[in-house]
Order: sequence, then structure tokens, then C-alpha cells
Amino acid sequence: MAVNGHIVRDRIPLSTTPSALQVTHERQDTYRIHVTADPHKALQAILDELDGRRAAVITERTVAALPPYDDLTRTLQQHGLLLGTIAVPPGERSKTLDTAYLLLDWLSQLDLARRDVIIALGGGMIIDTVGWVASAYMRGVPYINVPTTLLAQVDAAIGGKVAVDHNSAKNLVGAFHQPRAVISCLTHLDTLDTRQTSAGLAEAVKKAVIASPEYFDFIETHADDLLHHRLPATETLVRAAGAIKSQLVGRDPYENDLRRPLNFGHTVGHAVETTTGYGPVLHGEAVAYGMVIAADISRARGLLDPATADRITHLLTALNLPVRLHQLRAEPPIDDVLAALGKIRQIRDGSLRFVLPLELGTTLIVDDVTEDEVRAALLRTTADDLPAGRP
Ligand SMILES: NC(=O)c1ccc[n+]([C@@H]2O[C@H](COP(=O)([O-])OP(=O)(O)OC[C@H]3O[C@@H](n4cnc5c(N)ncnc54)[C@H](O)[C@@H]3O)[C@@H](O)[C@H]2O)c1
Ligand SMILES: [Zn+2]
Repeated sequence: MAVNGHIVRDRIPLSTTPSALQVTHERQDTYRIHVTADPHKALQAILDELDGRRAAVITERTVAALPPYDDLTRTLQQHGLLLGTIAVPPGERSKTLDTAYLLLDWLSQLDLARRDVIIALGGGMIIDTVGWVASAYMRGVPYINVPTTLLAQVDAAIGGKVAVDHNSAKNLVGAFHQPRAVISCLTHLDTLDTRQTSAGLAEAVKKAVIASPEYFDFIETHADDLLHHRLPATETLVRAAGAIKSQLVGRDPYENDLRRPLNFGHTVGHAVETTTGYGPVLHGEAVAYGMVIAADISRARGLLDPATADRITHLLTALNLPVRLHQLRAEPPIDDVLAALGKIRQIRDGSLRFVLPLELGTTLIVDDVTEDEVRAALLRTTADDLPAGRP
């Protein structure tokens, strides 16, 4: 009999096994990271990745007032691919379930279908929020990241960790949902202020310390160019960050193993952000300070050569990042930082995880750093007379 359609035939045997049924599903995600200094090439890459699909563009108001937004929406319109655009208020305060709900509402009114694509245009706030919305809407629709901050280009746009914040904790409501593509255009950084640039560089230094001495040398040699987004250094920086992060994430995309070197600097970093109320101290700044503390604990234990610890501190200083307590925009009391760490320790059954560098490219992940060790390291960043060679 001739049929017009798609036949699906199965003969699944009757299962009579009394034991538990084991179910295994594997999932493979593949995507491209494009890095270019040419806005036309970036737009072409977006069109190529869309491959004829329609797109809904989600951004925030600061970015909506910048040229990349007009260029993108105009191009999509010209190709008849623009489903709609929306801009939410800027800043970490928008990374909430309320914003996500508003976006889900908007998508449903837009009739976004599963084969359409969401484009996240903005910094890490937009990328994280939109990625989570994309993971939830219709159980997952594709999204393309077009990161517009250096932090998002070297970090947040890659890896598929998506989340919004909850009153009780940052990134509490989230998922793993890989983007369909990442398109980083370096000219988008032209309007970024210098503090945001430094914060982005902190996440690049993190990758260098944990995974690539060569990358560390590169950032050291080109610090000034990188602070000013000069080419070709910035292009190399962003490209290499994509390669390093995707390799590290690829080993454990769903974070089954929580012993992750990518958390270097984030233990104390998060405590600083919590005690200062997520705002005055940028994430990258808190991480920079956290890296100094972790390196110092490692040095104090005799695990890290003092010269390497100094090298890390010097590089962060050269990148205008805080390495001393008073250099943080809001100086948190040491006891408050320790209390915040104590809370994490409590949640984690008494252990606090630290990523300690042993040398560039090698880390040791430990659970036994004591409060006294952290206090001593924090105090050393308040001392007036630092050892020679330290900023
Ligand atoms: N998912 C991940 O793996 C991951 C990794 C690191 C950070 N993050 C998240 O990223 C967020 C921080 O990202 P961020 O630093 O990009 O913050 P952000 O998105 O809030 O952007 C920082 C500031 O830059 C402005 N801005 C954005 N693009 C601009 C441009 N081209 N020119 C001028 N100004 C511009 C924004 O309006 C904002 O004021 C945090 O929520 C953090 O948790 C996620
Ligand atoms: Zn981070």
C-alpha cells in the first residue's frame, strides 16, 4: 500500500523484569563561537546561523540605545526574519523571575515557534536571563548569544549555564541550555566603560591561571592594549577565552563534579558580593580580589611559589583590578566576609571549597581551608607594609 507520510514502526517487547529499569539518555550539543572585529561579518554570521529561521531579539535598554541594536534589527528586518524586539531595564536587578515571566509572556504573544530562535543581545545579565527563558519556553527553544560586554564575550556567553537570581541567592533558578551559536563582535566593546573592561579581564585572568600559562603571558604582555580594546590583542583574548572555557566545560557540561577549577577566585568573590549587596563591587572585581586571597592561601601553605603569587597580583593591578581590601568600591568588614563564608560552609556540611593555584595551569581543589587561614589572607591585604615586590 502506498502511503503518503512518515511511518514509525516499533516492536518493543513486553517488559517483565522485576528489577529497577535503568534509563540512559545522552545529549550532544554542538555550537560555533564566532569572534570578529568586523560588524558586517558579525551580522552575516548571525544570518548564517539563523539559516532562514525567524528571530526574536531580547536586549536591555542601555544596549538598545547603542548601534549594534539598530544594526541587528535592521538587518533582520531586511531579510524578513525579525519576529519582534523587547528591551528590559539594564542591570543585575533585572536578572529575576519577574523579568523572565515578562519575557515568557511576550514570547507567547509573539507566537514564537519551536523552530524560531531567540537572540540575546547584551552583557551577562541579558545572556543569563534570556538563556534561562529559552531553556524553559516550550521546554527549550534555540538561542543565539551576541555578547556586548567583555565579561560576556570571554565568559558568560559560553558554556550554557543559564539562570536568574532569587532573593535568597544569585543564580538560584537556572538550567544548562547551550546556545545555538555565540557571535562576539569586538566593535561592540567600543562603548564599554573602563571599569567594565577590567571586570571582564578578571575572568580572562582566571582562565589563564587555572588552565593556560601561555594565555597568562599573553595578557601580561598586552595588558595596555586589552584595557583599551585594541586589536589584534582583544581578538586573541576573546578567541582564546572561548577555546579555554569550552574545553573546560566540555569535560563536565552538567557540573556533575563540583571540583571545578573555573570557580577559582569565586569562593571569596561571592562572599564579597553578598556582603556588599551585589552592586557596588562588580562581579569581576570581586573575583579578582578572591583570586588574590586564594593565591595567598596557597602561598602561605607553601604550595605556590611566592614569585607566581606576586605575578598574579601584579597582573591584576596592571588591569586596574582590586587586590587590596580597601581597593574594593565598597570595603566589606572582614568579619562579614568570614560570616558569609561560614554560611556557605554550613550549607555545604561544614566544608568550604577553594581552588588553590599550585603553578600557572595547575590547581588543587580543597575542602579544608580554615577560617583562620582565610582571615589571615584577608588581613594581609590590609597591611600597610606589603612584602617587597607587592603592589
Ligand atoms: N553564565 C555564566 O557562565 C556566567 C559567567 C560569568 C558571569 N555571568 C553573569 O554575568 C553577569 C554579569 O555580566 P556583565 O558584567 O556583562 O553585566 P551586565 O550585563 O549587567 O552589563 C554590565 C553593564 O554594561 C552595560 N553594557 C552592556 N553592553 C554594553 C556596551 N556594548 N557598551 C556600553 N555598555 C554596555 C550594561 O547596561 C550594564 O550596565 C552576572 O549576572 C553574572 O552572574 C554568567
Ligand atoms: Zn565569574
